[in-house]
Amino acid sequence: MTAYRADAHKILIRPMGAGDIDQVTAIEVEVTADPWNSKQFQQSLEDHHCLVICRQDADPMVPIGYMVLATVVDQAEILNIAIDPKYQGHSLGSQLLNHGLQSLPTIIEEVLLDVRVSNFPAISLYFNYGFIEVGRRRDYYRTEFGREDAILMTLQRAAVDLV
Ligand SMILES: CC(C)(COP(=O)(O)OP(=O)(O)OC[C@H]1O[C@@H](n2cnc3c(N)ncnc32)[C@H](O)[C@@H]1OP(=O)(O)O)[C@@H](O)C(=O)NCCC(=O)NCCS
Repeated sequence: MTAYRADAHKILIRPMGAGDIDQVTAIEVEVTADPWNSKQFQQSLEDHHCLVICRQDADPMVPIGYMVLATVVDQAEILNIAIDPKYQGHSLGSQLLNHGLQSLPTIIEEVLLDVRVSNFPAISLYFNYGFIEVGRRRDYYRTEFGREDAILMTLQRAAVDLV
């Protein structure tokens, strides 16, 4: 996969490498109560499609966000996506999502994801992109106080201009 540069926004999106794991894991701890550990990111490098987003006007080698996508036959699943809290709200998550989905092989027809019912920024990001809710998984996620449901969302590739 080639790197994507958006000069107007001074960002670079490139494949994640082993050297990114420490920084990605540090961001993960900040953005979720149930974070992946470094071994999970390491395993994802072997099994999945992993991207990082960096600032070109700072150190382009230091990730400020990441995305992990799994593909099985004609389906893809967003397993993880996050932006460093310091950089949230500046359309970086939208650009990373857009680039990640555009870079999927053309055989992919459907993209799936699970999101916590309480995660309004992420739900809003996905709705904006064209994902729709297709179901709920009861008590799917751990929370500080117990469990919460997951919303299952899908995007049909034919419904949006991804290629
Ligand atoms: C979800 C996440 C990746 C969005 O990244 P971001 O760079 O802040 O998002 P953007 O600036 O591109 O915003 C895209 C859309 O998300 C929504 N959004 C972003 N921040 C929001 C907030 N604080 N409240 C409500 N909606 C929000 C909006 O719909 C926004 O579109 P708009 O600006 O046109 O209204 C980021 O909030 C994050 O890393 N969250 C923690 C990790 C996480 O929850 N990942 C998703 C797991 S399923």
